[in-house]
Amino acid sequence: MSLIEQTEQAGVVTLTLNRPEALNALNTDLIAELGSVLAALEAHAGLRGVVLTGAGEKAFVAGADIAEMRDKTPEQARYFASQALTVLKRLETLPVPTVALVNGYALGGGCELALACDWAIATDNAFFAQPEVGLGIIPGFGGTQRLPRRVGPAMALDLITTGRRIDANEALRIGLVNRVIALDERDATIAELTKQFSRNGPNAMRAAKQAVHDGQDQDLDSALALETSLFALGFAGEEQREGMSAFLEKRKAAF
Ligand code: HXC
Repeated sequence: MSLIEQTEQAGVVTLTLNRPEALNALNTDLIAELGSVLAALEAHAGLRGVVLTGAGEKAFVAGADIAEMRDKTPEQARYFASQALTVLKRLETLPVPTVALVNGYALGGGCELALACDWAIATDNAFFAQPEVGLGIIPGFGGTQRLPRRVGPAMALDLITTGRRIDANEALRIGLVNRVIALDERDATIAELTKQFSRNGPNAMRAAKQAVHDGQDQDLDSALALETSLFALGFAGEEQREGMSAFLEKRKAAF
């Protein structure tokens, strides 16, 4: 049975993780299925955005599967983490905007999964934590690296060394998420994102994501040169002419 539900509207795909008996905890099967789903999306030419959420109202993802991890050897733990990291990298480098819609618990690997998306929205019942040290381990799905890049190293170490849970509003305050919505606004939020992503130039959105992501790891001058190249490249296709013509002709662009 499939562990991930997939729906699509106007090129925006919603992926809903659905392993309710373990609060959507990430086991080998769920991670592998996410990898296959992302591989298929990479080949989807009309893709304009991805929203990742958890089934139900209680959990986005309650972490990596503790039952599966408990008896692993160091070699098996390394393999487990590296397989998951490859899948999360795939998510991070998907060429379209990706949004984590965090409903309920996003703990450990769940928080790390949200961090592999470009940005995040939390429902008002969401809780975030990196509780790994309480289990005698450290984050292994990228938390020690992506969390400090999102919220700064001091706040990341606060969360990682205390393991404390923060609610949606604190997550908003520290910049872990961009917005907080009511739980019953989930469908409307996805519909609004779909409207926004589907009316924008698809190549422009892809280039913007590339500029931001690739620029992060470069010095400012190189990153600005990258922006200029991608900006100029935007004038090579139909999209820029259509977008600007539509504005000047007072009509909606047809991308
Ligand atoms: C396996 C899990 C799970 C997990 C919950 N479940 N989280 N199973 N791995 N991470 C299972 C429970 O065992 C239980 O199964 C069922 O889901 C419902 O959970 P309950 O605990 O009964 O629910 P509740 O009392 O409401 O508490 C919810 C919760 C708690 C606060 C989210 O489940 C919890 O603390 N979970 C663990 C959170 C955590 O420590 N995550 C980090 C994991 S480490 P049964 O069969 O009893 O009904 C990690 C490392 C990543 O993510 C890097 C790895 C390389």
